[in-house]
Amino acid sequence: MRAFIIEETGDVATWGVREYESAATQPSDVLVKVEFSGVNFKDAMVAASPSRIRRSSRLVGGVDAAGIVMESADPVFRVGTRVAVHGGDLGVGRDGGFGDFVYAPTAYLSALPDTISTRSAMIIGTAGFTAMASVLALEHRELDRDGEILVTGATGGVGSFAVTLLAARGYRVVASTGAVSQAAWLRERGAERIISRTEISERPDRVLDAERWAGAIDCIGGDTLHQILRSLRYGASVAASGLVAGSQLTTTVYPFITRAVNLLGIDAVQATSKTRDEVWSTLGTLAPTLNFEPLTDRVVSLDGIEAALEVVRSGATRGRILVDLATI
Ligand SMILES: NC(=O)c1ccc[n+]([C@@H]2O[C@H](COP(=O)([O-])OP(=O)(O)OC[C@H]3O[C@@H](n4cnc5c(N)ncnc54)[C@H](OP(=O)(O)O)[C@@H]3O)[C@@H](O)[C@H]2O)c1
Repeated sequence: MRAFIIEETGDVATWGVREYESAATQPSDVLVKVEFSGVNFKDAMVAASPSRIRRSSRLVGGVDAAGIVMESADPVFRVGTRVAVHGGDLGVGRDGGFGDFVYAPTAYLSALPDTISTRSAMIIGTAGFTAMASVLALEHRELDRDGEILVTGATGGVGSFAVTLLAARGYRVVASTGAVSQAAWLRERGAERIISRTEISERPDRVLDAERWAGAIDCIGGDTLHQILRSLRYGASVAASGLVAGSQLTTTVYPFITRAVNLLGIDAVQATSKTRDEVWSTLGTLAPTLNFEPLTDRVVSLDGIEAALEVVRSGATRGRILVDLATI
């Protein structure tokens, strides 16, 4: 098979498309013919030199994939089942989705709802899954439909899906972006209002800011998350999933002890089967009313992954980068 291989010598990573034979690590692993994958922020972190998250000196990249089960001993994932494959150490410590085939444990597999094609599943990908999990986490805390919900990093994978899914659920979405030139595109995704990234970061230097947001989905982290915490309304929640602007969080306890706000951690990697089922089935319910195609930044073949990783590193993605192993 052909695959995008990442190899490490010392702390230095090199990569390229090569002929490669992937193998099952456990007899119970399911073999999936990959039709689509996606290029995620995490893929760029895996291919970095040095990388804080890469767990293998030679592996097929790609933290997610969608395709058809080819070999399986599991009654839930019979041969021919259409599946999304993501989570665990896929594309981080074991061969991932940037190849014609992938072996994975059943815990990494989700059967796709009838309404979601393998192509749509990878336009959604780990980013869309994370956005849907974030929306559900907020809703489990009773999200206020009248107030404004803030989404940061709004043109990125998680952000653009968060805007789309919140709007599809009837919420009033404010999209925060460093790419205000994409305002029209964000409005088409359902944002009611667009604000510049600096409007979040450059706030008055007080312990607490005005109560602005009825909820927030943040994939930026760092000071942005601190600013969100101090400007949530009483009892509101922020779903935090990312660290694009930094992994350090310096804040105070005041938002928690005087406004009863909630910081909800979102993790797609070790999501329980209950969470995976809830996320994919909710996406399946929303899919007939949504067109996922405009959320595609570009479609690349295996040979286009290297350039796509550069786009991700530069922070210039608009939506999702789809890897097509089925037709190109
Ligand atoms: N917890 C989990 O399980 C999980 C799952 C998936 C992703 N993530 C994390 O979520 C984050 C986003 O992932 P993604 O795939 O959506 O990435 P992405 O497609 O590259 O989007 C990131 C977006 O962040 C904004 N941005 C870029 N550089 C920035 C900077 N220096 N300061 C502030 N904003 C910046 C940009 O949006 P604007 O130009 O619109 O501002 C960019 O499009 C990453 O940290 C990723 O690791 C976590």
